[in-house]
This record gives sequence, structure tokens and C-alpha cells, in this order.
Amino acid sequence: MNNGTRSPTDRRTGAGAAIGRPERNLESLADTESVHFPEGFLWGVATAAHQVEGGNTLNDWWVAETAGRLPASGRASGHWERFEKDFDLVRSWHNTAHRFSVEWSRIEPEAGKWSDAALGHYSDVVDALRVRGLEPVLTLHHFTNPAWFANRGGWLSRDAPTLFARFVERVVDSLGDRVRWWLTVNEPTVWAKHAFVIGDWPPFERGRWIRAGRAIRAMLRAHEAAYRVIHARQPDARVGFAHSAAWVEPCRRERMCDRAVARIRDFMLNGAVFRMIGARSRGAPLDFIGINYYSRTIVRHGWRGAGTIFGVECTHDHHHGSRRWSDMGWEIHARGLLHVLRQFSSYGLPLLVTENGLATDDEELRCQVLSEHLSALAAAVEERLDVRGYFYWALVDNYEWALGMHPHFGLAAMDPATLDRLPRPAAHLFAAVCERNAVPKGGISTSPSASG
Ligand code: FCB
Repeated sequence: MNNGTRSPTDRRTGAGAAIGRPERNLESLADTESVHFPEGFLWGVATAAHQVEGGNTLNDWWVAETAGRLPASGRASGHWERFEKDFDLVRSWHNTAHRFSVEWSRIEPEAGKWSDAALGHYSDVVDALRVRGLEPVLTLHHFTNPAWFANRGGWLSRDAPTLFARFVERVVDSLGDRVRWWLTVNEPTVWAKHAFVIGDWPPFERGRWIRAGRAIRAMLRAHEAAYRVIHARQPDARVGFAHSAAWVEPCRRERMCDRAVARIRDFMLNGAVFRMIGARSRGAPLDFIGINYYSRTIVRHGWRGAGTIFGVECTHDHHHGSRRWSDMGWEIHARGLLHVLRQFSSYGLPLLVTENGLATDDEELRCQVLSEHLSALAAAVEERLDVRGYFYWALVDNYEWALGMHPHFGLAAMDPATLDRLPRPAAHLFAAVCERNAVPKGGISTSPSASG
């Protein structure tokens, strides 16, 4: 691949970028120089139904897309038809697990009506994973809602948790014999922020903080109901939800007001949902915590409005050298992964890194950043934090919600015409780590000189 000539497709997708083959650096290291992960550690990549499947016509996103309020997801990554090939690919990356979501609106296209075809499809998906030795980690709700559910008030309607639990029953009855790891809901705080505060996701409401709070509460109640449904059928299931864990730091550490707003912001972003669900109490409805980690937020005290309490984000460069940003405008800060893993370990529950990745078209950066995050993960394992797995977001470039197909998160790029998968250099890096179940102590060299 590194023969120095790159086709136009290569340039667009990043496949074939002249970056060192990390395998060499990994091979040359004696075992003692590596951090070994526990046996059975789950290595995988993550996806979500609406972002990769294509043709998801029955949910609230499709309704908004066809009304021109959101970019069209269309065929997305065509994963609905290509799932078997995709699983061959991740198997070739030595993955041992795979995170994906089922699309509620396909399974229950109308209230109380069930699609055997959709359930049959997901049953094939689970079988395809199992046959390849990939442990399924199944998300039951990843941002999209069936159109019928949205029409009757969505997460603000009184019976939302009950309706969700009824759907979960169906899924567990048909897939539960082959799925042990369940994520009930993905990032309730992020969903509510976009749906009711920023207003760029359905139902497009702005500044409705109280509604956002109610929606989060309903999703947590739905989580609890789903937890009970799953455990009633499968006592040894592992049930959690995926939380968007931002690492929050005060801008000027020496200032009490900055420290105070950082603590409040951290509580709002990270603490509140776990308080609501009683995560510290015995018998909490959580078997593990799913951590989606992408970025750090630095906050300083502001003198007006909400900034006096929650602080304002500091985007300056005066924090120990220059800061790096992804194409999403999120700060890249690998050390934050270790910090959040420490922070969430305090609940005494196992942790799964259910998402971590980078939107970029700079493949050297993607390799570097992945390697830095894997080192942070290795540091957590060395500290004996109870981390059970790591899932890179994402398997392949996909529909990034209101931003459409542009931000490129994939370990594989995608040819937009044929939807062919084109593994990027970072996929090789990841594969090498998964295969060895280990990360070199000095980090993984991704410089061109390491390619030999
Ligand atoms: C997370 C979402 C996931 C994807 C990544 C980039 O917040 O869970 O679907 O969009 O961000």
C-alpha cells in the first residue's frame, strides 16, 4: 500500500496514505515492553442503524430529511445489505466484538405491529457476528424514533418508557439467546440537547431546557424498564447505557470561580444522569457503564447569564501548547480518556469504551490520535481500572446526523459511488493492537520512518 503513488480515490479516502505500518513497531517490541489487556477484552468498532444501514424510511429522521430539514441519509453506508462483508472486514482486523444498534422503527413500524422480516434480519446479523467469533454489543435506541412514536409526543409522552419496554421485550425474545451485552439508550444527554436546546435534531425545539430534562428522565426510566425486561429473561445479561463523557477542566486552575463552574458543568454533563439513576446505590439498574469519549471541554467563569453558573467554553491556545481540533470542532485530548475512565470507575462498575474516534481527512492525524487514545486506554488497564472493552467509532464513514455524510470517522473510507469499503491506515494500526491484545508502552510509532 505504501508505494508512494496514490490514486485520486486514495487521496479522497485516505486509503493508501504514506504512513508507517504500525505492525512493525508492535512486532519489534518484546512482551515485557507492552501493556497486555485482560483476556477476553472486547475489541471492536461501533455503528448505529440510521447512520449506516440506509433506507430507514420509518423514523422521525427520515420524515425530517424528506421535508428538507436535514441532509438526506439515503443509502447511508449500505450496511443493511453489506453487513456480512463488513463483519468479514472487522474480523480481518482481529476484532473480537462489535457494537451496533437495531432500528426500532423497522421492528415496530406501527404502534403494536411487529415486523418479522426486520427481526429476522437482525437475527441474521447476530448470527453473522457469532459465526465470526464477534461478541455482539447491541444498542436498543440510538437517537432515532419511530415516526408513530414521535407523532404521539415521543420522549415527552407519559407512556414512552412503557412503549420502549414493550419493544425491548420483542427484541430480547428474538435475539436474547445470542446477545449478552446490551446498551439500552445511547447518550440521553446529547440527544436531549440537540432535540430541545440546540434544536438541530427532531423535534427541532430550541432553548427548551425543561423539556430536555423531562426527555432525559424518560429515557432513564426507559433504561430501567428495559433493564428489568432483559434481566427477567436473561439473568446473566450485562445491561448498561452509553454516556457521552466529556472531560471538563477549569481554564484558570488557580481561580476558584473557574473551578466552581467546571464542577457544575461536570455535574450537568456527567454527574446528573448517574445521580438520577441512583448509580451509587446498591441494586442500581446498571451492570456496566458505556463511555463514549471524544473530547475535553475547558470552561471559565463568565460574567453574564448562564456563564456565571455553567461557565463559558475557552477555546484559546494558552493551555500548555497548541490545542488540536477534529473536523467536528471537538478538541482532541487523549489523556482525557484516562481521566474519564478514572472518574467513572468511582461508581464501582465495569466500564466499556463504547465509542471513541476522530473526524478528519488527515490520515496521519487519525493514526496518531488513535495511537494516543490506545495508550491512554492501556494506562487505565495498567492502573487496574475495570475496563472490559474498546469500540472505535466508526467501522466506516457514515451519516453523521445533521452534518450529513461529510465528517469522516471511518476506519474504512467508502467509495461514494459503489459504497466499497477502503480500509485506512488507522485500520491496520487498530488491527495490530487487537491481534496482540496489547499496546507498546512507549506508544505506537506512526511516523513514516517506522514503515521501513
Ligand atoms: C456520538 C454518537 C454517534 C456518532 C458520534 C460521532 O455522539 O453517539 O452516533 O455520531 O458521536
